[in-house]
Amino acid sequence: MAGEAILETRGITKVYPDGTVALTGVDLVVRPGEIHGLLGENGAGKTTLTKIISGLLPPTSGEIRWKGKAVRFSSPREALAAGIGMVHQHFALVDAFNAVENIALGEEGGGALGPVRAASVRRRLEAIMEESGLEVPLDTPVEELPVGVRQRIEILKMLYREVDLLILDEPTAVLTPQEAEELFSVLRDLAAGGKSVIFITHKLAEAMAVTDRVTVLRRGRVVAVRETGETSPEELARLMVGEELPPLKERAGRAPGKEVLRVEGLTVPGAEGRPAVRGVSFSVREGEILGIAGVQGNGQTELVEALVGLRPWSGRVELLGKALAGLGPGEIAALGLAHIPEDRHGMGLVLDFTLAENAVLGRLKPFTDAFGRLRWGRIFRFAQELISRFSIQAPSPKVPVRYLSGGNQQRLVVGRELSKSPKLLIANQPTRGLDVAATRYIRELLLKLRDEGLAILLVSADLDEILELSDRVAVMYRGAFAGILSREELDRGRIGLLMGGAREEPVG
Ligand SMILES: Nc1ncnc2c1ncn2[C@@H]1O[C@H](COP(=O)(O)OP(=O)(O)OP(=O)(O)O)[C@@H](O)[C@H]1O
Ligand SMILES: [Mg+2]
Repeated sequence: MAGEAILETRGITKVYPDGTVALTGVDLVVRPGEIHGLLGENGAGKTTLTKIISGLLPPTSGEIRWKGKAVRFSSPREALAAGIGMVHQHFALVDAFNAVENIALGEEGGGALGPVRAASVRRRLEAIMEESGLEVPLDTPVEELPVGVRQRIEILKMLYREVDLLILDEPTAVLTPQEAEELFSVLRDLAAGGKSVIFITHKLAEAMAVTDRVTVLRRGRVVAVRETGETSPEELARLMVGEELPPLKERAGRAPGKEVLRVEGLTVPGAEGRPAVRGVSFSVREGEILGIAGVQGNGQTELVEALVGLRPWSGRVELLGKALAGLGPGEIAALGLAHIPEDRHGMGLVLDFTLAENAVLGRLKPFTDAFGRLRWGRIFRFAQELISRFSIQAPSPKVPVRYLSGGNQQRLVVGRELSKSPKLLIANQPTRGLDVAATRYIRELLLKLRDEGLAILLVSADLDEILELSDRVAVMYRGAFAGILSREELDRGRIGLLMGGAREEPVG
C-alpha cells in the first residue's frame, strides 16, 4: 500500500490558535495518477487539510509523507519546489500582468523578466498548453479575462512549475457548466500523464464524474474512503451528513400576486462603452421566483448591480411602484430590497470585522439607541439568533469572519439578508460554495419565502438550481434576454440552446 502512495498524511491534527479543532487524526492516501476527491460539509476541514499539505499552515501534530519520505514544508514555496501546488478559491494573480508575466513572477532564481527570459517562458508555456490542452491567451492582462480563464492560468502556472500533485479547492464554484467540463477533461489528461490531483467539491455529480477515489471528512475526521466506481451520490451524501437527507418537498402551485419589481428597457453600460445590459424588460411579482439563467459574463452581474443601486443605468425601474432612478444602494434597500451578492468577499462581508459586526452591516438603525450608541447586547443576541437559525459554525459572535469556512460565511450573508423581511430579494448565486445540506436548506427557504409572498429574482449559473426553484426563467445572452420561459415550458435542452445564443420567437 505505502508503495502505491505519492502522498500520505498520517494522523494530522490541527488546532487553530483560537482553540478550534479543525482536524483530528486525518489519514489520507493519494496515489500517482489519481484524481482524489475530498468531500465534506462546510467546516469539515477540507481547506485546512489542503493548506497543510501545500505548506501554507503547519499541522499541530501528525506526519506528511511525500514520495515515500517524511517532509515538513514551512512555506508554499517549499511545497511547490517539492512538486505540490495548490490553486486557491481566490486567485493570487496580479491584475495588470498578462499570463506570461504572472507565471514568471516569483519563479525560483528567475530574476527580472527581460525580453529573452519572457521569450523562453512563453515557449515553454506554449509547449505545455499544446501537451495539456489547457489554452489561455498569453498577452492579455488578467484583469480583462473571465474568471474561468484566470483559473486556467493558475493551473498552467502549476504545470510550469512541474508539480506532481495539483490541489484544487472548489474549482468549479466559479465556472460555467461548459468551463467545468473543459476543466475535467484537462484533469483527466493530467492524471493519465501520471500527475495526481486533489479535487475539493460540494457537487456530488462532479465527484462521481471526475474522481477515481474519494475521502469524506466529517467534523475534521475521515469517515470514509471509497473507490468512486463503488459508491453513489446517495451514499456520499449520507456519509458527509451522517444521515439520510429528507426528500425534497413538492413545490406548491401558487398564483403570483401584485407586481413588486418592474423593469422596462434597462440598459447598463459595461466596459469600453459597450452596453453590458441591452434594453431588458421584465417584472417580478409577489410569491414568484424569476430565475435568470445564462453563462456567466452575459450581463447578469451588471443587471444585478444596476438594480441594487451600485451602477449607473438608463430605462425605467420601479420597486412597489416607486421609481428607483437616482437612488443609492441604502435608499433602495430601505424600500424593501435585500441582496445576496455573488461575491461575498467583495460586497457581502468585511473579513476583519466580527461575525456580530457583519450581522448588522448596513442596518445599524434597529441596533442604535436614542443617543446614537450601538446596543451591543442586542447585536450579540441577534448574531446568536442567526448562528442558530442558519446553523453557522462559529466559536462565538466575536470571531472575525475571516476565520469562518467559506460555506459558513455564505450562511451569514444569506441569514442577514433574509432577516430584513424584504419585499424583494435579489439572490445572486445564493448557494455557491455551500454543502449539500446547506444548499438544500437555502433552496427550501427560498421556496418557503416565495410561498409566503416574497418576490425573488434569482440569478444562478447552476441550471439545476434554476430548474428547481424558478416559476419563470429568463435566459440571458450578450446582455439581452434570449427568451422568458414559463414553468411548463422549462426544459434543460431548450435553456441550454438559449444560453448558447439561440433565440426564441416571442410567444403570445
Ligand atoms: N484561521 C482560522 N482560525 C480559526 N478557525 C478556523 C480558521 N480557519 C478555519 N477555521 C475553522 O476550522 C474548521 C474547518 O474549516 P475549513 O475552512 O477547513 O472547512 P472546509 O471543509 O473547507 O469548509 P467549506 O466547505 O465551508 O469551505 C471550521 O470550523 C472553521 O471555522
Ligand atoms: Mg473550504
